Amino acid sequence: MEDNVVTVLIVDDDANVRKTFGNILKLKGYQVEGAGTGAEAIDCAKKIFFNIAVIDMKLPDMSGFDVLREVVKISANTIPLMITAYASMDSAIESMNRGAYSYVTKPVNMDEVLAVLGRALEKQRLSMENNLLMRELKAANEKLKELDLLKSEFVAMVSHELKNPLCVIKGVMELLIDGTIGAISPKQKELVGNGKRSAERLLRLVTNLLDIAKIEAGKMELLRESISPEDLIREVLTSYKSMLAEKELSVKEEIQRSEKRIWADPDKVTEVIINLLNNAIKYTPKGGNITVKLDWVGGEVRFEIADTGPGIPEKAKEKIFDKFERITAETQEGTGLGLPIAKNIVELHKGKIWVESEHGQGSRFIFTIPQDLRA
Ligand SMILES: Nc1ncnc2c1ncn2[C@@H]1O[C@H](COP(=O)(O)OP(=O)(O)OP(=O)(O)O)[C@@H](O)[C@H]1O
Ligand SMILES: [Mg+2]
Repeated sequence: MEDNVVTVLIVDDDANVRKTFGNILKLKGYQVEGAGTGAEAIDCAKKIFFNIAVIDMKLPDMSGFDVLREVVKISANTIPLMITAYASMDSAIESMNRGAYSYVTKPVNMDEVLAVLGRALEKQRLSMENNLLMRELKAANEKLKELDLLKSEFVAMVSHELKNPLCVIKGVMELLIDGTIGAISPKQKELVGNGKRSAERLLRLVTNLLDIAKIEAGKMELLRESISPEDLIREVLTSYKSMLAEKELSVKEEIQRSEKRIWADPDKVTEVIINLLNNAIKYTPKGGNITVKLDWVGGEVRFEIADTGPGIPEKAKEKIFDKFERITAETQEGTGLGLPIAKNIVELHKGKIWVESEHGQGSRFIFTIPQDLRA
């Protein structure tokens, strides 16, 4: 509302109506303009903004509805109010359908008009305020998105920089344990072994941070290579042998032998398997069983990692694939990034991932990847 002065346009061919109307409204402090024809009204609306346009349904040159349409086209914030000579339901409904805020009947009852104007102005004030807030909210949202992207890029950069030295540390510890650079005592071996496991945990965390940052920045890209899912899964299982033994978990492999290959990103698919296997190991109590399955179903390869852990309650089955959602946060270490990353990678491969579980009966995480992604 410009300068807080409320502007009203009265469109009526009856000069008397314009005058009486105008005088009363002026007394109320409104700024009033009158127009005797539709064309005049449209001209006026082009020159100044009206908070309200009171329009007679019947005008000499055009219908009140045409004026209403034009006035609203000129300024969407102007509130149109129709005056009709007779109180018919039809004309009332039509007024509303055509976008009028309300309508009054002739002879005009000024108290009624003033009450309607009051309500209309309040509505206008709220809607203009709303629009302003929406604009502010949108701008703030854009800014946040920009900052979020910067944050993701920063996290990606830092994680990337952390990865190389960590790999070196892990490598050196492996050399020490292997005895490649000289024999060490069992006690030294045990300590270096602890160090190596910590370096691995840290490397896992950094890899997940790097992945999630890339996903958030929309920069997770896939390589397309012909790979054997069987080889991938066996490689991961080999590297987890000691961890599985340490937790006294037995592993059952049900891997369908096949020459078939998939056209996918080997490192990324390995990430998915690792995240699922890590969870199975982490959440299954000592002495439990893990089953790793691989089979081919209708042009897709299907990976399955099942455990005899606590299982996932029905209401959490979808949620756990969201960032930072953890249902066992207090009992196990973790950041809640493994499953969302897995989901993203699987979906980038046009596959699906889900969990089947009866609470208390273990979990079965399954993901599929179409055999030929080049199609
Ligand atoms: N095999 C499982 N058995 C029971 N609960 C599981 C299993 N896998 C995942 N969950 C539940 O789902 C949550 C989300 O898993 P997700 O892998 O995303 O995160 P995390 O394991 O907590 O942390 P991160 O993987 O980042 O180290 C876990 O916190 C856990 O509550
Ligand atoms: Mg996890």
